[in-house]
Amino acid sequence: MRFRLLIIMIILAVPIALFAAQKEAVKKAPSKSANPAVEQKSQLDSPKAKTLDELAAKYDVSKCKECHVKEFEEWSKSLHSRSLIGTGRTMATIRTAITDGLMKEQPYSGVKKIEDVKKVHLMQCFKCHLPQLEDATDNVALEIAQAVMDGDQDKLKKVSINCLVCHNKKAIIHKWHDGEPQVNIVYGTKDGPHPHPSFTSHKRSAIMQEAVMCGQCHGLGPNFDQPNPSQCATLYGSYLHSYIPSGGTKTCQQCHMHEFNKGHHMSSYRDPEVGKRAVEMVVEAPSYQFLPRAGDPNPMTVLTVKLTNRAGHRIPDG
Ligand code: HEC
Ligand code: HEC
Ligand code: HEC
Ligand code: HEC
Ligand code: HEC
Repeated sequence: MRFRLLIIMIILAVPIALFAAQKEAVKKAPSKSANPAVEQKSQLDSPKAKTLDELAAKYDVSKCKECHVKEFEEWSKSLHSRSLIGTGRTMATIRTAITDGLMKEQPYSGVKKIEDVKKVHLMQCFKCHLPQLEDATDNVALEIAQAVMDGDQDKLKKVSINCLVCHNKKAIIHKWHDGEPQVNIVYGTKDGPHPHPSFTSHKRSAIMQEAVMCGQCHGLGPNFDQPNPSQCATLYGSYLHSYIPSGGTKTCQQCHMHEFNKGHHMSSYRDPEVGKRAVEMVVEAPSYQFLPRAGDPNPMTVLTVKLTNRAGHRIPDG
């Protein structure tokens, strides 16, 4: 009797143990894709890039334009898509930061010649102008520094603030709360499956429609986190401490993407339509005549000019 009970217990125990082991295996499997059939290595899931071309390939967005035609067109015309060149001034200023700053005025930088430039030296600018340099080796920093010295725009154009910088790398701020960005997800405003071989789903980011998303690069003030703080853009500081306390309610995205109807172009004063929205000017000019002596009229005008800043921050900036 006892023997039979033992057999029944063993018979029951085997499938229970098997089931538990299976559950454990599921738990341990990397949760990369909801559907294991489409499980594939993401382009972002690679070791640190050792060359500029490897970094460009890791952050390649050429496929995005097949489906997101409008977003791609607009972004291609934006300054974000040429963030190491800008209007030309950015590339020129990075060059000065190397030759006049690191090599001359900063004797403790460790940079005597261009070959000494490492990631840490470029991060004072690239923290905002090319944050994905974090995912590359010092060799890539040197390749970029050399291209800046040579004015090689074709090379510098290969990397920029592109779709994957905003929709992956910079899409999560509170990493203890939301975790690190996943290598096979593009983050946007809602959840769903995504038909891209590397990015198999899209997911809501808590910050995508908030000003803080843009604030990550649009600056608070001096960059005290850097060994030799620089100060470039500070506009997010002004948005937080001036616009919002004065009763402003709009986000960067509301003005720059939606109200101005610029989508991913996100243009500013160089675009006349946006420039016109910057300042409201009210001019009052009542005229009268002043008679210092009888028969000797002096025409006079009182000119009152009222300028109101309509932007969500100080202008100009940067
Ligand atoms: C990863 C950093 C980063 C993020 C995130 C970012 N920007 Fe920028 N943005 C830059 C840099 C760098 C430039 C300047 C590029 C240059 O000219 O060298 C710039 C330029 C601009 C300009 C000036 C464009 C012009 O034509 O003069 C606007 C407007 C702008 N960004 C708006 C936004 C808005 C709105 C967001 C949020 C939705 C945002 N940015 C998010 C880094 C960023
Ligand atoms: C805190 C982020 C941040 C840092 C750090 C930063 N920049 Fe910028 N930079 C921006 C943003 C954002 C803009 C564009 C918006 C603006 O002008 O307000 C910009 C604009 C510029 C412009 C004007 C762009 C043009 O095409 O006219 C130049 C030049 C520039 N940056 C060079 C540099 C250099 C060189 C460094 C490093 C020494 C640097 N920046 C560091 C964020 C930054
Ligand atoms: C500077 C940051 C930034 C860059 C670069 C960027 N996006 Fe976006 N994108 C946003 C933000 C912010 C939103 C949300 C706008 C909103 O709804 O207020 C958005 C929205 C979207 C949406 C939702 C639909 C829409 O147009 O609002 C798609 C699709 C999209 N982006 C694709 C792309 C693609 C593709 C690229 C590259 C060609 C790209 N984005 C580059 C910030 C960026
Ligand atoms: C084969 C077509 C295809 C390609 C290629 C593609 N996407 Fe998408 N994407 C979609 C579809 C379809 C959706 C879902 C749109 C919807 O539900 O409104 C989407 C959604 C998104 C969203 C979320 C939009 C939101 O409103 O939240 C983002 C962000 C996005 N894609 C970015 C990208 C980026 C970045 C790339 C390139 C790396 C890319 N996509 C490549 C088809 C594509
Ligand atoms: C109430 C609408 C509004 C809001 C909110 C707003 N902007 Fe602007 N912004 C403007 C207008 C209008 C201009 C054009 C004025 C100009 O460039 O001189 C401008 C100009 C800019 C410029 C160019 C600055 C320069 O050097 O003159 C940048 C960069 C920029 N905005 C980024 C942002 C970012 C990032 C946010 C959010 C933190 C934001 N804006 C919020 C309306 C707005």
